[in-house]
Amino acid sequence: MAKKLRYRCSQCQHEETGWTGKCPACDSWGTMEEIIIDTSKKKNKAGRIPSSQLEAKPLSQVEINMSQRIDTNMDELNRVLGGGLVKDSVTMLTAKPGAGKSTLLLQLAGQLAEKGIRVLYASGEESSSQIKARALRVLPRVSDSIYILSTNSMDVVINELERIDPQVIFIDSVQTMALDEFSQRQGTPTQTVQVTSALVDICKRPNKARAAFLVGHMTKEDEMAGLRTLEHLVDTVLYLDQGNDENLRMLRSTKNRFGYTGEVGLFQMEENGLNEVKDPYDLFLTKREDQVPGSAISLQKEGSRLIPIEIEALVSDSYGTYPSRIGDSIKRDDLNTLISILEQKANFQLSNKNVVLKATGGLAIQEKVSDLAIIAGIASSDHNKAIPGKTAFLAEVGLTGELKRVSQIERRLRELERIGFETAYVSKNTKIPDLDRLKVFACNTIQEVFNQIFYKD
Ligand code: TYD
Ligand code: MG
Repeated sequence: MAKKLRYRCSQCQHEETGWTGKCPACDSWGTMEEIIIDTSKKKNKAGRIPSSQLEAKPLSQVEINMSQRIDTNMDELNRVLGGGLVKDSVTMLTAKPGAGKSTLLLQLAGQLAEKGIRVLYASGEESSSQIKARALRVLPRVSDSIYILSTNSMDVVINELERIDPQVIFIDSVQTMALDEFSQRQGTPTQTVQVTSALVDICKRPNKARAAFLVGHMTKEDEMAGLRTLEHLVDTVLYLDQGNDENLRMLRSTKNRFGYTGEVGLFQMEENGLNEVKDPYDLFLTKREDQVPGSAISLQKEGSRLIPIEIEALVSDSYGTYPSRIGDSIKRDDLNTLISILEQKANFQLSNKNVVLKATGGLAIQEKVSDLAIIAGIASSDHNKAIPGKTAFLAEVGLTGELKRVSQIERRLRELERIGFETAYVSKNTKIPDLDRLKVFACNTIQEVFNQIFYKD
């Protein structure tokens, strides 16, 4: 008999010969799906290593195969990948629909092709002519090193891979591809897992390493289950985040076998696709002729780079029983703590006032270095007095109202000077480097800072 009926768990892939309500392996209920296994088809089609070739070796005999990297010509992407694209890696790019996944990957394919690297871009979402139309808009040149394939069949992709022999493969998206071997529809957990595993097998062949990018749509359901299962199979998971700004895109890695996951790549979506943001200062700071109350600036570390963060605070009278504390870029508890410090250590009366806090550009307030800017922003709005221009705040604030030292202060101060800031407030415990133009005030407490900025004259 060429076909066999089996039941496979959509969560953990465990197989049973008969149906069960609960998966015996992972205890999930209602996840056993009927599958038909076609035993006449060869399993090794995707180039999986035959088990006879796999044997355990003593550690002393294992060869070190340091993965080599390809410079993608896109610095923002190189940084997030950990210093370029590893030659035998599988990367999953996830984002909400419309974020720019297809655009980013087509641009990357174009950059690689410019370097003479052969790439195959397989799409189950768009026709070849739609991809060509986009390529004409976003690529500097249409290179013959880019091969386009529009299909929903992973078997067709694998055949074309053998024929074209690309060094880098793009699959857009995992939810639109299916392998014949499995009877489920495309997009089902079985198909997405099998398509991803086939791609991993292709990329990790010992004699022919290839790199692959796989798009994973993040819809509500996928966020909960589907993509999580795939994350275990791939080397790197990238997330293209839209932030608050309509055009800004932040590329982050949530998993990276080859690098640090704290890096952020910045892009702006424009008419000619995604453009890298090399110098983020213009983007994250509002340009103003005159300073306004409620705005205060800090300099936050995002991976290896420093990015200015502008805090906007609005304090208003509250007419309800409880005042509102709103701030989606900061944890509620942290905001409440800083408000309590202002009340107890600097005599502010905020119990009958609403406080709304925002960070421009959509960055989350992650580092304690922004404490002082948040406190100064709230104080500035409450006093209706603007903080002088080109001023930044770099200090953690303790429950005592004292300023605390933060990491890499010298680097942060030099960066502030480089981008044209004139004044910085830091903790008294800080070792201040020699600077030409930046004036640094080292203070003990928030009250000292306020005396300097609000009550001096
Ligand atoms: P797309 O890459 O198709 O997103 P995804 O693959 O994540 O679903 O691009 C999404 C949006 O980006 C699209 O709605 C239009 C916009 N866009 C631009 O603004 N400029 C461009 O050059 C391109 C190609 C797209
Ligand atoms: Mg797309």
